[in-house]
Amino acid sequence: MYSLLHHNTFGLDAWCRDFREYKSVEELTELLPELTGTRWFHIGGGSNLIFVRDYDGLILHSRITDCEVVRTTDEHVFLRVGSGYVWDDLVAYCVEHGYYGLENLSLIPGEVGSSAVQNIGAYGVEVHQFFDKIEAIDAATGERRVFVPSECEYAYRSSIFKHALRGKYIITHITFRLNRTFAPNLEYGALSRELEARGITPERITAASLREMIIDIRHAKLPDPDDMGNVGSFFMNPVVSEEKFNELYARYPEMPHYNAPGGVKIPAGWMIEQCGWKGQSLGPVGVYPKQALVLINLGGATGEDVVKLSDAIREDVKAKFGVDIFPEANFIE
Ligand code: EPU
Repeated sequence: MYSLLHHNTFGLDAWCRDFREYKSVEELTELLPELTGTRWFHIGGGSNLIFVRDYDGLILHSRITDCEVVRTTDEHVFLRVGSGYVWDDLVAYCVEHGYYGLENLSLIPGEVGSSAVQNIGAYGVEVHQFFDKIEAIDAATGERRVFVPSECEYAYRSSIFKHALRGKYIITHITFRLNRTFAPNLEYGALSRELEARGITPERITAASLREMIIDIRHAKLPDPDDMGNVGSFFMNPVVSEEKFNELYARYPEMPHYNAPGGVKIPAGWMIEQCGWKGQSLGPVGVYPKQALVLINLGGATGEDVVKLSDAIREDVKAKFGVDIFPEANFIE
């Protein structure tokens, strides 16, 4: 038995039967026979996982951390990075070396491998925009397969690795296509407001100062998992039909909303706050007082406690707004 306490940012003291880490593709390949006939699950930084109970199986974790420039063109740098590389260390490395594009994704917890499963995103940028290719190992056969982003069905917090190919491939490396010229994406409302408040014109911003600003915004809104267990946004923001949006907007003209593929996106955090949950708790799990989309471990929470609060919030949002919201976090039973 092995404790997963230090492998999930919600701070759940769940256990698994076996735990294996590997530092290279060769070590991973040697491990594969152990997966046959066994329940297994691959984790990254554990920043998006809720272990509902102890895991009666094998947990795998990558420690592949190589990082090298494999090709350069006039416009781009192609950087091949191991799946176990800590995400924010990668963003810092890129900013330092003048490889641009990832700045808005600063401080997102987790590791490179899971970024490709989850399609992490923040402040108007989604990570798949910077993927050149994804290298993976077929867990059943050990064969190597290279995916290009167009076959990975990337969408908001979603990919083929989360759905049709869930549990089939283990991602070992990602090659990022980064820009050699800094072209900041400053369109997200919170960013443009912060720029104005700091008196920085878009022409004057540098990658390092943009990264710093993103880190400041995140610090102000999101709890540090080292201080308070959490998995970032707990729910995804739902997309509703135009018709549903019009009905809600007539009732709540102050409701924030954004155009999105397939309809209108409504911030789940806003709806949860309207339901009166912000700063409230159920047992040892709370709703973060500064951002209602974030659930926090008030101390000693179990996965089942998290499920209880998650279900209570979902029911209230459904009753008040008639909208279903779904966890962004993955529940592992
Ligand atoms: N809002 C409220 N009350 C709240 C929280 C939010 O009214 O308690 C309102 C805000 O005022 C704003 C809107 O909801 O009008 C959106 O809020 P915010 O900009 O904080 O972003 P979010 O939709 O809550 C999403 C991502 C975050 C990402 C930010 C910035 C999801 C599930 N979450 O949050 O991602 O950092 O936008 O891009 O899409 C994560 O995935 O873990 C994460 C932190």
